[in-house]
Amino acid sequence: MDRRLEGVKNILKKYGQEQLLDNYEKLDDRKKEKLLDEIEKIDFDLINSLYANTKKPINNGEDEITPIDYLDKYKLNEDYKYYENIGKKAIKEGTLAAVTMAGGQGTRLGHNGPKGTYDIGLDSHKSLFELLADNLKEEGSKYGVTIPWFIMTSRENNEETVEFFEKHKYFGYQKDKNIFFFIQGELPMIDTEGKILIGEDGLVKLAADGHGGIYESLVKSGMTTQMRHMGIKWVFIGGVDNCLVKMVDPVLMGIAIDKGVTVACKSVVKANPHEKVGVFCRRNGRPNVIEYSEITDEMAEAKDKDGELLYGESHILCNLFSIDAIERMGAEPLPYHAAYKKASFLNKDGEVVKPTSPNAYKFEAFLFDAFGEVDDMAILRVKREEEFAPVKNDDSVGVDCPKTARELYKKFYNIDK
Ligand code: UD1
Repeated sequence: MDRRLEGVKNILKKYGQEQLLDNYEKLDDRKKEKLLDEIEKIDFDLINSLYANTKKPINNGEDEITPIDYLDKYKLNEDYKYYENIGKKAIKEGTLAAVTMAGGQGTRLGHNGPKGTYDIGLDSHKSLFELLADNLKEEGSKYGVTIPWFIMTSRENNEETVEFFEKHKYFGYQKDKNIFFFIQGELPMIDTEGKILIGEDGLVKLAADGHGGIYESLVKSGMTTQMRHMGIKWVFIGGVDNCLVKMVDPVLMGIAIDKGVTVACKSVVKANPHEKVGVFCRRNGRPNVIEYSEITDEMAEAKDKDGELLYGESHILCNLFSIDAIERMGAEPLPYHAAYKKASFLNKDGEVVKPTSPNAYKFEAFLFDAFGEVDDMAILRVKREEEFAPVKNDDSVGVDCPKTARELYKKFYNIDK
């Protein structure tokens, strides 16, 4: 242990991160070893470069951002049936799987637990997970198949998520047969001086590293191998927080197959220039999304000659990929975006500090940053009221909250109460 500890001290000294051992002596042997394991796994050069990036202003300036073409699902006319038939055939052949990204904690929602366990207040009191399960089962039955379901969790919420599914008998799914769980990656959080924080448990303060790691996680956890084994060719990846998400869409699949693209995404018209959604675009000619936190006001408000927003196709986290595309995207590291957050930590005297304003950076990769890896992709504009009812905030915010999601859900499914 001593030699190992010396080695770790040397690494920390080299990178100016000695504070990570401030509380080492107070830990029990098991935790001491765990802390050393964690420190040895940290890519300190990466942390340094991420810290340096937090000092740079947001700048899309060097990139050439241009609008991107899309198809409107309800203006496809006779092509609608054509694509639908292609997609239906592929679904019946059992080539589609669904992935739900459920690594988030629902902090903005004020929910204490995995976001998927949240009850949006329907009379049935079904959780988001159950609403998604209902939709998958119903759609699968239309085609005589069970759509395999893969759930991405984070270290923070994996146990609770699996327990929740266990308690609800996996909503009719069978664990390791047609429902699978895999854990996303994490990165340390740093303070404004670039120092890695220690969490309340005395270990490195780690946070989920965004859904951009999903491709790599799907590959490394063996999920893509499992999918190939099951005959899957297409994978729909969606968020857990949209209770109207349509994971099985033959038209979207038919378009991807017919056009020979490896990624096909759904969009809805942006409600207003400053709605908190990312929008599809081309960045240096390649498909991409500009996130709401990174778009300039000028771009957000720009209109085309018909008065429509130039960047008005919202990314709703409803994206379909071929397995090949996932494997290709998983091979290349994605850039990380910094988010300034409140994060409790242990100070050098071993006291827990709970800040009341943001104090630390969390780093997240975004899955859409990999879109540029593919030569081209299709975008299908769908109707907001049919496919997008996100639950992001608590009701006091008034938008993308349980109340709005519940209303949209009831309207779509024609539920009176
Ligand atoms: C997201 C999109 C935005 C889109 C909007 C639509 C990002 C970065 N932006 O914004 O382009 O227009 O949704 O609703 O995603 N998640 C994980 N692990 C993580 C982080 C997130 O599984 O490490 C999951 C969450 O559980 C959730 C989804 O990804 O299902 C979206 O994450 P969130 O951070 O809520 O993104 P938004 O800011 O709402």
